[in-house]
Amino acid sequence: MKSPLTRRSFIRHAAAGSAALTWLTARQAPTLVAAEATKPALLGGTPVHTGGWPGWPTWRESWEPAVLEVLRSRKWFRGSGETVARFEAAYARLIGAKRCLATASGTTALLVSLHVMDVDAGDEVIVSPFTFIATYNAVLISQALPVFADTDPATLTLDPASIESRLTDRTRAILPVHIYGLPCDMDPINAIARKHELAVVEDACQAWLAEYKGRQCGTLGDLGCFSFQESKHLPAGEGGAVTGDRDDLLDRCQAFHNCGRAYGSFKGARPYFTRGSNYRMQHFQAAILLQQMDKLGVDTAHRRENADYLTAQLKQIPGIQTVRLPENSRGVWHLYPFRYDAEPFHGLSRAKFIRALNAEGIPCGGGYTEQYNDGLVDEAIASRGFKRLFSAERLKAYRDSFQELKGNRLVCETTVAMTQNLLLAPRSDMDHIVEAIRKIQAAGAELAKAV
Ligand SMILES: Cc1ncc(COP(=O)(O)O)c(C=O)c1O
Repeated sequence: MKSPLTRRSFIRHAAAGSAALTWLTARQAPTLVAAEATKPALLGGTPVHTGGWPGWPTWRESWEPAVLEVLRSRKWFRGSGETVARFEAAYARLIGAKRCLATASGTTALLVSLHVMDVDAGDEVIVSPFTFIATYNAVLISQALPVFADTDPATLTLDPASIESRLTDRTRAILPVHIYGLPCDMDPINAIARKHELAVVEDACQAWLAEYKGRQCGTLGDLGCFSFQESKHLPAGEGGAVTGDRDDLLDRCQAFHNCGRAYGSFKGARPYFTRGSNYRMQHFQAAILLQQMDKLGVDTAHRRENADYLTAQLKQIPGIQTVRLPENSRGVWHLYPFRYDAEPFHGLSRAKFIRALNAEGIPCGGGYTEQYNDGLVDEAIASRGFKRLFSAERLKAYRDSFQELKGNRLVCETTVAMTQNLLLAPRSDMDHIVEAIRKIQAAGAELAKAV
């Protein structure tokens, strides 16, 4: 039988068919694409971000001659060359401190500072609990008790209002931490220290170039401590620094970090007249650090721009609480944190939110936990030394006081944080972070049930 379709009618039908197909494609494909785009990656959808993130640390070929020069000089130890001293002068200038002492690490910078501020066995130090474990360790290794004041959930830093009730006649110093590169509210902290004649050692190990009321972190207390470990904004693999304005203190720091050798105004009848250790930086580290002084400023500006943009966007999402900085202060965002409230996300737990965000191509984590409950502090206070130094009554009251750290508990349970390298990506990638969070919010109920 002859086909009922003539050539003309075939063309007409075909045209109509293809028009219909075009119409269908136009109507259905976006729906399909949209469905795929809104389906969380954790449930098999397409991730919002697939392009990766800037790596860290980075280096440039132009740095190589400086490192080779140290190698070929055969002057590798600080006592035999000038590179470490050159770095110290440059870093002091950069952060606006009179003096800087380079050390082997941030931890050793803290140990030097606590020693020089006369924190001794059996003393107590008020410490921020929301920090890397090295802050706790520095106090414990000094045979002193790290007495945790509370964390302000709005700022993630030490709540000045929680300090005074924790002071005892053993309290010798306050150790605020500019965590994630967020400046602590230093004016009230310094006022309390002055009132009770306490030393202030800033843990600025994550806060290179962070500013509080026009001055840089690390120049706000008696001494400031920095870390140049590999993940840091000014990295050298390992490394640290103590900064300050008082020559007498910095001379003592020099002596203590160099086996107790006399230095400057701090001297005795013999060259080794005081206790000390070896916490010296090597010239290799200093050479790498010296190459990065300008880069630190450029990277910091880039991170700040992206952090400010993210904050403006994330503030608009119900359930995301961005951090509050003290007035007239600027963070440097070693991590970019926010607090997460599950309710506007259909009850999606923080752990599932983080997994969902990771699946969308956005690396992030929950930040610090309540580390004082992890056994480390218990082990220390159960030791022979601590039992000799503190009464059983004091140690029990001390241990019980962890229950009072309600602000810190909230912060540990609700914070979500992204590492600094994400902030070095282009602005369009910040939009991906925002888009991924909005996507997860829209699919919150589905995610809460499914994973
Ligand atoms: C807040 C804080 N304090 C102290 C330190 C110790 O520094 P380092 O690792 O250089 O010893 C670090 C390092 O991560 C830190 O983040």
